[in-house]
Amino acid sequence: MCGIVGAIARRNVVPILLEGLKRLEYRGYDSAGAAVLGGAADGKLQRIRSTGRVVELEKLAQAQGLNGDLGIAHTRWATHGVPSEKNAHPHVSGSVSVVHNGIIENHDAMREALRAKGYVFVSDTDTEVIAHLINSNLRDDPGSGHALFDAVRRSVAELVGAYAIAVISEADRDHLIVARHGAPLLLGLGDGENFAASDTSALIQVTQRVIYLEDGDVAELTRAAVEIVDTQGNAVERAVHVSQLSAAAVELGPYSHYMQKEIFEQPMAVANTLEMVTSAQSLAPQLFGVDAEKIFGDIDSVLILACGTSFHAGMVARYWLEGFAGIPCNVEIASEYRYRQSVPNPKALVITISQSGETADTLAALQYAKSLGHQYCLSICNVPESALVRAANLRFLTRAGPEIGVASTKAFTTQLAALALLTMVLAKMRGRLPAVRETELLKSLRHLPTALQSVLEVEPQIETWAREFVPRHHALFLGRGIHYPIAMEGALKLKEISYIHAEAYAAGELKHGPLALVDKYMPVIAIAPNDALIEKLKSNLQEVKARGGQLYVIADQDTRLTGDDVLHIIRLPDHAGLLSPILHTLPLQLLAYHVALMRGNDVDKPRNLAKSVTVE
Ligand code: F6R
Repeated sequence: MCGIVGAIARRNVVPILLEGLKRLEYRGYDSAGAAVLGGAADGKLQRIRSTGRVVELEKLAQAQGLNGDLGIAHTRWATHGVPSEKNAHPHVSGSVSVVHNGIIENHDAMREALRAKGYVFVSDTDTEVIAHLINSNLRDDPGSGHALFDAVRRSVAELVGAYAIAVISEADRDHLIVARHGAPLLLGLGDGENFAASDTSALIQVTQRVIYLEDGDVAELTRAAVEIVDTQGNAVERAVHVSQLSAAAVELGPYSHYMQKEIFEQPMAVANTLEMVTSAQSLAPQLFGVDAEKIFGDIDSVLILACGTSFHAGMVARYWLEGFAGIPCNVEIASEYRYRQSVPNPKALVITISQSGETADTLAALQYAKSLGHQYCLSICNVPESALVRAANLRFLTRAGPEIGVASTKAFTTQLAALALLTMVLAKMRGRLPAVRETELLKSLRHLPTALQSVLEVEPQIETWAREFVPRHHALFLGRGIHYPIAMEGALKLKEISYIHAEAYAAGELKHGPLALVDKYMPVIAIAPNDALIEKLKSNLQEVKARGGQLYVIADQDTRLTGDDVLHIIRLPDHAGLLSPILHTLPLQLLAYHVALMRGNDVDKPRNLAKSVTVE
């Protein structure tokens, strides 16, 4: 969740660190800090830290004329200790300075042991333990030319938990040491300079050549080279990738917010995700990996594991997979599954769905599933080389491009596109997709980006609705069948960025309790596609209307509803049958965006949240 950048060069690295931090701010934004060497005339480490955004740190860097050719920097999402200057990274012990992403689980025991050695703790963080531990190991063996590297290696062997760290020492101006276990970290290769960061976007301004570190790796960076050792201490070569990420993909361009940009990028993101399919004449299992045909032929059910928005994508998929491909499907919140005693089925296909591919709960759930004997794993993910992608034997990459707004938008719709595709492939393999129907479905997939584009045209109407939501404290979202998870996603979007309390219900559940909440102050948003359940939904809407609730209905062009039936209605200009849930998502994203904006909230960085939840 926190963001790390490190650099060793023959030039001032402060602008590189600050630029990197700005690009990593989506990972955490309650405080930030940096430490550099090589600028101060006396050779001393210069450290700055501030609460709030990176821009505050930048002001501090300017005011103090921060300068150096070796440095580390951090943007924080607090886990241990409130956001404050003293808890902001880097943490310092003697000559050692450390930034850290993750959680050290044995920090209490280590703190006691280090206190007994005379170390004094000045922060509430688990990270300070790492700084003192490295310092202690460095003191024990200060001799070799690789003293810091060796001290870090000895120290990480004592840590339990998840971490990505970057370390420098005042006593060594020629080395930057990094290590990872359970939290993302990559190296960036330059010309006479090298870098490290939590993700590629942070280094885009300096290099496109990156090395993804594996769990347990420790690396020593000099200006000329990088050396990596694995958990066993063996020197290892890791592949160098040329990142395809363009600067434009992570810039705002003409938009005011990343969330707005990402909502409007959805037609393109879905088109990119489906590119290989839309030009094809038929659906092939190999879209999901070379072994997909064999594995898909052997499975008898599906188990989906995911969190948050990605979990909602899984819930939509259950309706598709059972209703269309005829394959039993369970969907579980990863953080629940990982601690639940469940009955494993080695013939189930375990699907993890994740934007980041680094979500700690989803990763742990997958590891747990494997430990129970599950052997078939498919990862649907937006980040190549992420931990979830590497841990699976089948993979499908959504090609949404970097998603920077904390509220997930284009990741969700591209996940749905991937899951629709999977459903069609499995339906075909199970003899449930006649050729004529396959052609029809391929056609509707090809039309999907255009349909999404036309749905975005409802924005002005949504803005009118949004004004009415601004003073509200609560909202209910209703849907039936496959649109129930879309109602859940709509409620999640509204609550996380507007801070209006929002809940979603399967509309048929209303009279079993939540109807008691409905009065004239309660806006009720209903998703009303013209599907088999529309008459049932209309009865539920009448129940709301009879209690004075304010109805806001998102319908299809041909949904039979009149002004008498509802108070507010927006009709989607296009509809896509099986793919209808994807289209119905967009107005809900726009509603959350505009309400949050009108309430003066920071749309891209909602309070208390961060993207890429790499801690439990
Ligand atoms: C909500 C949101 C989160 C994520 C969740 C899982 O807008 O973004 O609920 O969906 O934290 O993240 P990933 O998909 O990266 O595993």
